[in-house]
Formats: sequence, structure tokens, C-alpha cells
Amino acid sequence: MAPIISITDLSKTYEGGFEALKGVSLDIEEGEILALLGPNGAGKTTLISTICGLVSPTRGSVTVGGHDILHEYRAARSLIGLVPQEIALEPFEKVINTVRFSRGLFGKSRDEAHIEKVLRALTLWDKRNNRNQQLSGGMKRRVMIAKALSHEPRVLFLDEPTAGVDVTLRREMWDLVRELRASGVTIILTTHYIEEAEEMADRIGVIDRGRLLLVEEKARLLHQLGRKELRLELGEPLDAIPAALADHNLTLSEDRMHLSYAFDSHAERTGMTRLLGDIASAGLSLRDLSTRQSSLEEVFLQLVREGREEERA
Ligand SMILES: Nc1ncnc2c1ncn2[C@@H]1O[C@H](COP(=O)(O)OP(=O)(O)O)[C@@H](O)[C@H]1O
Ligand SMILES: [Mg+2]
Repeated sequence: MAPIISITDLSKTYEGGFEALKGVSLDIEEGEILALLGPNGAGKTTLISTICGLVSPTRGSVTVGGHDILHEYRAARSLIGLVPQEIALEPFEKVINTVRFSRGLFGKSRDEAHIEKVLRALTLWDKRNNRNQQLSGGMKRRVMIAKALSHEPRVLFLDEPTAGVDVTLRREMWDLVRELRASGVTIILTTHYIEEAEEMADRIGVIDRGRLLLVEEKARLLHQLGRKELRLELGEPLDAIPAALADHNLTLSEDRMHLSYAFDSHAERTGMTRLLGDIASAGLSLRDLSTRQSSLEEVFLQLVREGREEERA
């Protein structure tokens, strides 16, 4: 199936010369949730804004549903719903009119059944006659999403949907995003929360300093992270790793009370059995042992570090 969004060698240099995007290429499949993960200033909003036609690219091209965003702007834009990071609502407008008006902006004919469906899906139906200013922060965010869905887009961009949002609201937002995806909408969200990418995404793209460092299925990424660490707490401090254990690639902690052993939990042989046998033969006593999975966070930090080193080289 052709990707719903295709980005080719996209670059953006802002006036003043700052390069916010450096040759980004990416295909987004219909029906997926893609999380663009990156620190502040990485270029996430610039990327989204360019796809949505709010920022003009310096180089490269983007198609949405096969339509070029520059030459067939209206057709491309009509397929997109955008929820910007900042909440911006007319304070005195009623919720339902806010959403109706948004639909009108896209030149779509009135469709009260669709407006009702969107408001119900976002649990805003009971609040439809409230004025925006009377709503809680969470409800305002929902109105922003309802606006973005008002013209029946196939793709929804959520720019930092949970930045500065409390834990309960964050969970609620995640559930909502999953429901939207189940209804067939492709979702691209940006976040600087690793946990959010890990929780929500089918695929994760890591972006830093204008470069897309990696795009990978979340499941595969986590599988690649199959590296684990076995940590052994010793009964007595060790001065050095005994020669008998030299070929196990152990590291001794600074307090000389812990040995750690890195292994691949997906490998046929982890080497753990032999290690524990050799430890017993060497006469070491153990007080405790634990294993630890390397996290998405570690991989993310490592990628960003490597990307920056490469850039310097
Ligand atoms: N209009 C602009 N003019 C100049 N620089 C900009 C403009 N908008 C964003 N930038 C810069 O581009 C970089 C990327 O910004 P942005 O895309 O907002 O990052 P993110 O959304 O990942 O935090 C930042 O360094 C930012 O200061
Ligand atoms: Mg941003």
C-alpha cells in the first residue's frame, strides 16, 4: 500500500540561517501511530508545520495521500487534522460552534451528524453548549482535537499532546489516541517523553538537531534492546576479578561489592549458567542477584550521543 505521507529529503533553514531540518526522509503508513521522539528544539514542530503547509520547505518534498503539499496544497491539507501544542480557542464561543466553524474553514458542507459523532467520541457532547472559557484544561484539549477532526481528516498530527499535562490527563489522552486509531485515523504525535513513545507508538522515529536518526517498529526496537545486565552482590569485597573469571567480561563496581555481567537475553546462550558455575568454583559467595533490562531511554540517549558525535566528525 502506498504510504499516506511520504517525505523526501526535507530541509528547512529559517531566515537567519538556522537549519531546523536536515534532509529528513520518511514514509508514514496509513493506520499507524508514529511517535516522533526528540528533545526540545530537535525540529519536531518544524517537521509537522512543514507537512501541514505552515512552514515552507527549503528543499525536498512531501506528499499527503499522493498530493504534493506545495502544488496541491488544498487537497493535501484537507486530509490532515492538526492539533498544535498550544491551546488556542475563542473564549466566548460555544464548543459546538467552535467545531462547526473549523469544519467550515475546510470548505466542507455542514454535517451535524459528524459533529455530534466527534463531540461524543471526545466526551464533549454534554458540554457542547458551554463556552470554551468554562472548560477545564483537559476539556479544552479535547476541543482542540475535535476541531482537528471536524473535517474528517485521514491523518491527525498531535504536537506534544501531553506536555505539561498531569498524569491522569496523560493516561486519558493515550486512551483517546488509541480509540482514534481504532477508528482508522493515522496518528503522528511528537513527544519528548520516552515513556509516551513507548506506551503509544507502533513505530518510533528519533529526531535530534534536525536529523531523523532512526525509525523503527517499537516492538523491534524493544527487541533490539534485549540487552540485559546481571548484577551480582558479593558476600565480601573483591580486590580484583579473579583470574578464573577473566573470560566472562565482568565489571567490578567501585565499592568492589558488585559484579555486573552484560548479556543478550534473546541469544541461545546467555553464558549465565557457566558464569554462575565458575563463580561457585572460584569460591565467591553471593548475597543477591538481579537482572535489569536496558530501556528505550538508554537507547535514545545513546542514539542522540552517536548522532552528535557523527556530526562533529
Ligand atoms: N520561526 C523560526 N525562526 C528561526 N528559528 C526557528 C523558528 N522556529 C523554530 N526555530 C528553531 O528551530 C529549532 C527547532 O524548533 P522546533 O521545530 O520548534 O523544535 P521542537 O518542536 O522539536 O522542540 C529550534 O532551535 C528553534 O529555535
Ligand atoms: Mg515543538
